[in-house]
Amino acid sequence: MQRLEGRVAVVTGAASGIGLALAERFAAEGMKVVMADVEAAALETAAAAVRARAPAVLAVRVDVARAEDVERLAGETYAAFGAAHVLCNNAGVAVLGGVHEHSLADWQWVLGVNLWGVIHGVRAFVPRMLAGGEEGHIVNTASMAGLTTAPFMSVYDVTKHGVVALSESMYKEFAATGVSLGVSVVCPGLINTNITRSARNRPSALAEEGKVGPMAQAFSEALATRLTTGYPPAEVAEQVVRGIRQRRFYIVPAQPEVRQWAAVRAQDIIELRNPTLRERS
Ligand SMILES: NC(=O)c1ccc[n+]([C@@H]2O[C@H](COP(=O)([O-])OP(=O)(O)OC[C@H]3O[C@@H](n4cnc5c(N)ncnc54)[C@H](O)[C@@H]3O)[C@@H](O)[C@H]2O)c1
Repeated sequence: MQRLEGRVAVVTGAASGIGLALAERFAAEGMKVVMADVEAAALETAAAAVRARAPAVLAVRVDVARAEDVERLAGETYAAFGAAHVLCNNAGVAVLGGVHEHSLADWQWVLGVNLWGVIHGVRAFVPRMLAGGEEGHIVNTASMAGLTTAPFMSVYDVTKHGVVALSESMYKEFAATGVSLGVSVVCPGLINTNITRSARNRPSALAEEGKVGPMAQAFSEALATRLTTGYPPAEVAEQVVRGIRQRRFYIVPAQPEVRQWAAVRAQDIIELRNPTLRERS
């Protein structure tokens, strides 16, 4: 899809980090932007900033883990603008800990947002986009964590591998059936956002946290420090816009040493090795 101006972009998790950068970037392209987020106050502030640049902004408070919320988002998008051309299923949260020490609520919360959120987005929007018959592109935010694994990140890694699998399946189905909608999966490395403060949006019904042992705690603190010197979210947004125009499926870090994380896992499988224990850098 070459022409973005005048078209409609929908972004979930648009009040902060990568989602906000996407909304700002689409606004700069002259797109109408639908900004969806669960954090109402942050969404209001973010939408006011984007409104100053975009031809139109619709801000919708949505919990992407809830199918009915995402269905409402699609309904409001089509009622306001009559179409969705770019759908960014981006909202995400993270929790760290040992696989067997996570609470049920840890799993339910993060799977709900990161994996079900993308599933709900696809189910609510893709049939409408197909029925509309216009050009379009689906952008699902996974992570390098969807192409590799690390200790103490099982819950997050499971969701991101799921998003990569869903996206690859969708790409192949569209190719096999002649559907012209584009598909991309975004797999950033370390980006300086508010993700380490994900718990700010954790629902009270899923508040019970698992036990975080000393090694998981140390890993979590080191990761949080490294994230503060991560790449700016605007770089991801720039890559996404380029990826949409070039119909690029894998939107991965520019640095080959980061992409190498995926190669190590693939080599483990090809060479019949057990998983290589390595720190993400
Ligand atoms: N920051 C990184 O290093 C990094 C790396 C790879 C992938 N990602 C992914 O990027 C995406 C965006 O995260 P970010 O890093 O910008 O973090 P962020 O915390 O800055 O932004 C995430 C946004 O999602 C919103 N959100 C949380 N739960 C929600 C829900 N239930 N419904 C709707 N919105 C919800 C938050 O309010 C927030 O505005 C996530 O999917 C994350 O997993 C981040």
